[in-house]
Amino acid sequence: MSEIVRVSTGIKELDEALEGGIPKGSWVVATGEPGTGKSILAMHFAYAGLRADDPVVYVTTEQEFRDVVVQARQLGMDFEKYSIYSLGWKKEPEAMPQIVVIDIFGLLKVARGLSEKAKEEAPEKARRYAALSVETLIEAITEAYDVLGLLEEGGRSPSRHVRLIIDSMSAFWVDKPVMARKYSYQLKIATHRDNVTALLTSQYAPTTGQAYGFGLEHIADGVIHLWMDEVETAKEVRRHLIIKKMRMTNHSRKAFNLEIEPGRGIVLRQT
Ligand SMILES: Nc1ncnc2c1ncn2[C@@H]1O[C@H](COP(=O)(O)OP(=O)(O)OP(=O)(O)O)[C@@H](O)[C@H]1O
Ligand SMILES: [Mg+2]
Repeated sequence: MSEIVRVSTGIKELDEALEGGIPKGSWVVATGEPGTGKSILAMHFAYAGLRADDPVVYVTTEQEFRDVVVQARQLGMDFEKYSIYSLGWKKEPEAMPQIVVIDIFGLLKVARGLSEKAKEEAPEKARRYAALSVETLIEAITEAYDVLGLLEEGGRSPSRHVRLIIDSMSAFWVDKPVMARKYSYQLKIATHRDNVTALLTSQYAPTTGQAYGFGLEHIADGVIHLWMDEVETAKEVRRHLIIKKMRMTNHSRKAFNLEIEPGRGIVLRQT
């Protein structure tokens, strides 16, 4: 039996609760209401990748990457120590970057490229690709792998281990929630590889407790759920984290208290 390789989440207590980390090649979803810490969890996972010398692809639909860098620095993670390339930039990458960022500008650029290509190939069937579409996202991820030097001639799957972060998936079906399940499958088929450990975030509607992208949770290899106590009753922000599922892992079944501390980021304490 081959040994399971564990990939660090960047959070010590979480790694311990996962028998060392996320199994390499897993597709993990972090779900939760606004402000529960999903984006910060994503930053930890990306930063741990850079420290471990894994190439990183970081999709951020929520914030410009500039802002991710600023917030990460407040939490003790200095992304600027590493060479960053953004797919939205006009200039070509000079050297091989360690992390490729895909923000809304990158997605717009890729969507434009896809639309132009479709027009050239079959003008009668020309169509416009939207920036926030799963097709554009898949193409952007493939381009990012290419910039990272991970694709063999003509291939679309990375030749070595890469971390993929998508924060957040909800942006891709915000105007058509009924499509969440279909889009989730499409994305999983396109990106689930032995060499890709993925962390995707998904929003919960605070009022109904319903995930906008409930399809994701069913098809994910792992679900890490974050929530906070009802603030009007608690009269403070009390956050929690629980591992709801993780394939091939005898994970902790207990919730943690989750604090976000300046200089440290997410700190978990067993309740
Ligand atoms: N420098 C900091 N020090 C302490 N806490 C911080 C700091 N920066 C952010 N936070 C806390 O983290 C929260 C934001 O967490 P995060 O962005 O990860 O939430 P999220 O789950 O991604 O929310 P959303 O669904 O809105 O994207 C802030 O509301 C704040 O409480
Ligand atoms: Mg967020």
